[in-house]
Parts: sequence; structure tokens; C-alpha cells
Amino acid sequence: MPTLAATIVEVRAAVAAAVQDARGRGVAEPRVALVPTMGALHDGHLALVARAQDVADVVVVSVFVNPLQFSETEDLDRYPRDLDADLDTLAGVDREGRASIVFAPTASEMYPDGKTQTKISAGDVGNRFEGRSRAGHFDGVLVVVDKLLNIVQPHAVLFGQKDAQQVFVVSRMVRDLNIPVTVEVVETVREDDGLALSSRNRFLDERERLAARVLSRTLEAAESAAVSGIDAVIAAAQSAGMGEPLVQLEYFSVVNPATFRPVDDNYRGRAIVLVAARVGATRLIDNESIYLG
Ligand code: PAJ
Repeated sequence: MPTLAATIVEVRAAVAAAVQDARGRGVAEPRVALVPTMGALHDGHLALVARAQDVADVVVVSVFVNPLQFSETEDLDRYPRDLDADLDTLAGVDREGRASIVFAPTASEMYPDGKTQTKISAGDVGNRFEGRSRAGHFDGVLVVVDKLLNIVQPHAVLFGQKDAQQVFVVSRMVRDLNIPVTVEVVETVREDDGLALSSRNRFLDERERLAARVLSRTLEAAESAAVSGIDAVIAAAQSAGMGEPLVQLEYFSVVNPATFRPVDDNYRGRAIVLVAARVGATRLIDNESIYLG
């Protein structure tokens, strides 16, 4: 069973004890990895935990639905919360010789004075794509990630490529502010039919679940057309995405991984195809890395 820590004092003590313990077992310099999550754990999160266990002796999984990254109109109250189920899930993937700690603070533990007075801005990129329909979302993500890094002080922090823009803004914060941590990125885990795992998939009814396949199909079509250049990618994605009445496309874009800005017409090299859509009332995102020829 993982060690459960509800407060900052407790998690710091648990990490220190686990590091000490690893030293006692002969690990000269025990490594600590942090996996930040909002709970409702699924196999996508568990892929991050597995990678954390590969790279560290002490694995801390934070489970915290961060109010700062939800806007007023968003689904903060609707967000699924079940800590007991998450603890069981994590107990099932415990690995011999790897300490596992769950940090599940309350909102008042993390934000005793309400919203932080000190802000972190994700900059220009924070207002595009996911940030466009969710104002302040990435600023809120950066505040909580920075706090978690300061609380746990891990050597490595793990994120899923599923949230490509989150990976971009967090990596920039780490570089811009010289935060002493390695950002590890883990590939997107998918259902057999291609749908990226997400805590929001549980809101899809049967018809919507089938329709949701259009996101990964659009990305596959884009990937197959990549050798022929950006125009071909857009055309392929358009025809793959047509004819799903339950799906409302929010954005589709091909961005340069170095800037997270849309590529121009003669761009060659690695790019990320982004897609976001509403399937019924549920908003889903996905992305794929491609090589534009
Ligand atoms: P959450 O949505 O719970 O996701 C936690 C981590 O799991 C993120 O790094 C996300 O990219 C990763 N993840 C989600 N689905 C995945 C999938 N199908 N395959 C691989 N990885 C996947 O992202 C957040 O929480 C929050 O913004 C957080 C970083 C915890 C800050 O509050």
C-alpha cells in the first residue's frame, strides 16, 4: 500500500524517510520522482507511474484537483474524485524496492490564503489552443506544478504527451526559472480503437464513445499525409474528420514543437498535430507527433 500524506509536512517527512530507507538498502543516492495528477487514475496515469518507478527509488504521486486551473464555467465540481479507488489502483502497481507515496492535500492545505497572490504566467502560448477557451488555465497549472516541485523537490517530474501544450509550458517554466528537475515525457496511452485515455471519457455515452474515435482517426490521417507536406495534412485531416454529427471540432492545428506556434507553409521537420473537439457535452483533446516532408 502506498504511504498516504495529506499535508505538506507529512509528504516531506515521508519522502525524507523513504530516501533514508533506500540509503539503508544500499542505494547511495536515492532518486525521487513526482507524478502530478488530479486523480481518477487510469492506465495513462499508470504509464507515468511505471516510468517514474524506472527512473527513481521513491515515487510520489500527487492527487489534487487544482481549483486554480479551472475557470468559473468549467467542470471543477463535476471532476471525478475517488481517493480510495486511486489508492487501490496505485497499490496494484507497487513495485518491490520502490517506495510509493501519495500526496493528497486539501485545497486549503495548498492554498491557505485562497488564490495565490504571486502569479506565474505561461506567456503568449498560454492563451492559445487549450488556453483560448480556458482563460488562465495554464497559469493555474504552472502555479500548482511549481508548488508541488517545491514541496516534494524531486529529481524528475513526469508528464503525459497527451497534454502536449502542458508539457510545453511546464518545460519552459523549468528552463526559464532554472528549476532543478528533469521533465520526463511519456507517450499517450490509447484504447484499442485509438481513443486517448482520459478521465473525461467516462462522461461519453455509447454513441458519443463511438463518435469520439474521429479524433485519433483525424490524427492518423494527418500522420499518413505528412510526407506530402502541410497542405496534404490539412486536407487529409479534414476528410477524416467529416460526417460525425455528434462531434464539434474546436481547433485543429499543426505546430512547431520548439515554439508551439502554427508552422508556416514551407516548414519541414518534426511538428505536432493538435485536435480538440466537443463530443456531446464532453470536451476531448489529442495530438500526434509527425514529420513534415
Ligand atoms: P491529469 O489530467 O490528472 O493528468 C495527469 C498526467 O497524466 C498528465 O501529465 C497527463 O498528460 C497524463 N495523462 C493523462 N492521460 C494520459 C494518457 N492517455 N496517456 C499518457 N498520459 C496521460 O494534467 C493534469 O492532471 C493537471 O493539469 C496537473 C499536471 C496534475 C496539474 O494540476
